[in-house]
Amino acid sequence: MSEYVLEMKDIVKRFPGVVAVKNGQLNLRPGEVHCLVGENGAGKSTLMKILSGAQPADSGEILLSGESISIHNPHHAQQLGISMIYQEFNLSPFLSVAENIFLGREPRLGKTPFINWSKMYQDAREILGRIRVNLDVRKPVNECSVAQQQMIEIGKALSFNSKIIVMDEPSATLTDHELDALFALIRELKEQGIGMIYISHRLEEIFTIGDRVTVMRDGEYIATKPVAEVTREDIIKMMVGRELTHEFPKELFERGEERLRVEGLTRTGAFQDVSFSLHRGEIVGLTGLVGAGRTEVARAIFGADRIDGGQIVLDGKNICVRSPQDAIHHGIGLLTEDRKNQGLILGMTVRENTTLANLASLVRGLFVNRKRERLVTISYVRDLQIKTPSIEQTAQNLSGGNQQKVVLAKWLFTESKVLIFDEPTRGIDVGAKVEIYRLMNDLVRKGVCILMISSELPEVLGMCDRILVMHEGHLGGELSRDEATQERIMQLATGETLAAMA
Ligand SMILES: Nc1ncnc2c1ncn2[C@@H]1O[C@H](COP(=O)(O)OP(=O)(O)OP(=O)(O)O)[C@@H](O)[C@H]1O
Ligand SMILES: [Mg+2]
Repeated sequence: MSEYVLEMKDIVKRFPGVVAVKNGQLNLRPGEVHCLVGENGAGKSTLMKILSGAQPADSGEILLSGESISIHNPHHAQQLGISMIYQEFNLSPFLSVAENIFLGREPRLGKTPFINWSKMYQDAREILGRIRVNLDVRKPVNECSVAQQQMIEIGKALSFNSKIIVMDEPSATLTDHELDALFALIRELKEQGIGMIYISHRLEEIFTIGDRVTVMRDGEYIATKPVAEVTREDIIKMMVGRELTHEFPKELFERGEERLRVEGLTRTGAFQDVSFSLHRGEIVGLTGLVGAGRTEVARAIFGADRIDGGQIVLDGKNICVRSPQDAIHHGIGLLTEDRKNQGLILGMTVRENTTLANLASLVRGLFVNRKRERLVTISYVRDLQIKTPSIEQTAQNLSGGNQQKVVLAKWLFTESKVLIFDEPTRGIDVGAKVEIYRLMNDLVRKGVCILMISSELPEVLGMCDRILVMHEGHLGGELSRDEATQERIMQLATGETLAAMA
């Protein structure tokens, strides 16, 4: 018997114009959490899609408990005990928790075609009980939180008696509290001997939950190490192939005149009486716990949601923003946190997505200046290190992190006065983050002001000149770069006042 539940050897996968995986290697022990890391486009998701039967490999070998097998499709993978939890879940929103777990395999009443509902509910409860998840199994999935949906996916994996569970960036959409629950669940699954492959760009998670870590770079296998034997710096060096000296290349600029001011901004049920200003030369952070109203404030300034009260003042003039078109017209851009749904048109190319929001600037006479359009796109692809075989690649074929970079390029090209970035580096690798921060510096130097919404406190502390902290729909306080610390931000985010802290 092999010591490994899974071995992947010399896996190769090509797409037109790219070798996504050149020599994929990975093995997994029962009860182990094996972290898989690498830059955007390194081939992590592709390797896992091969394991889960979603895509065939061009060559290579997969062994399950020492036995060589070929995986035909996702259904076959599931039967072999391999489950994949995708970031975009595969659940049916209007069906109940229990129906989702047993979809297509519902227990029947005797030999009849009728579903045995009570048995199905009971089995679903039993499965969720095994992972200590307390959830009404009759509830429709669209009433469950993202974290709960993830638990349901894991429950579903267990119902297939999975020996191997793959989680591709499971933490990207979770709050800290939910993340703790996920880690508790992962520990529970370890106890049950299930091996897990865990992909994340948040390297600190490796040290919390991982046993071993495998690094990929440009489709190549770099190394596998026990987590106890490596440091964060070691991992970064293996990922990017060089030392990364400044994770936060902050440049300080002179604070200029005020560009944007919001006064008493209110949207009933979402946030109340929010007032702040943004000046030339600064990056202002907007932070707080998930659900504190940060994204809602951004959407309101961008005209995506109606406001019930308050004023938006741009360059000293009251402006009326009724729609995102109005906002763009005034020079306000919003990079949304949900890139898949709001940021990109997946069926269009990198070039089309990049220039979409500001095509007018490329029009000469009746025609779009295609040559300039190509040059503009090429320069963003280079600056942001977007990994793509060409600017004519469709966005949907890019890796998750590279799609995010295209959204960023799109907003950079609009020549906005005010840019609101909502979680700009989520899903972006450590090396590319630095490039994005550098671009922010360039924008600020040119007079753009940036409002950065982020839950990543090191990034907020590293890059912002001032930090606004929201708590339950209010601005709980403001900290300057010099006075801000993780502790003070957390205190404000949880409702302590500045006076109480003094
Ligand atoms: N269906 C596809 N068609 C063409 N190219 C693809 C396809 N799927 C992936 N690729 C390419 O394969 C490479 C690896 O992509 P993959 O999604 O595996 O990266 P990743 O390591 O998961 O990155 P990220 O951290 O950004 O999610 C990328 O260059 C990507 O553009
Ligand atoms: Mg990926």
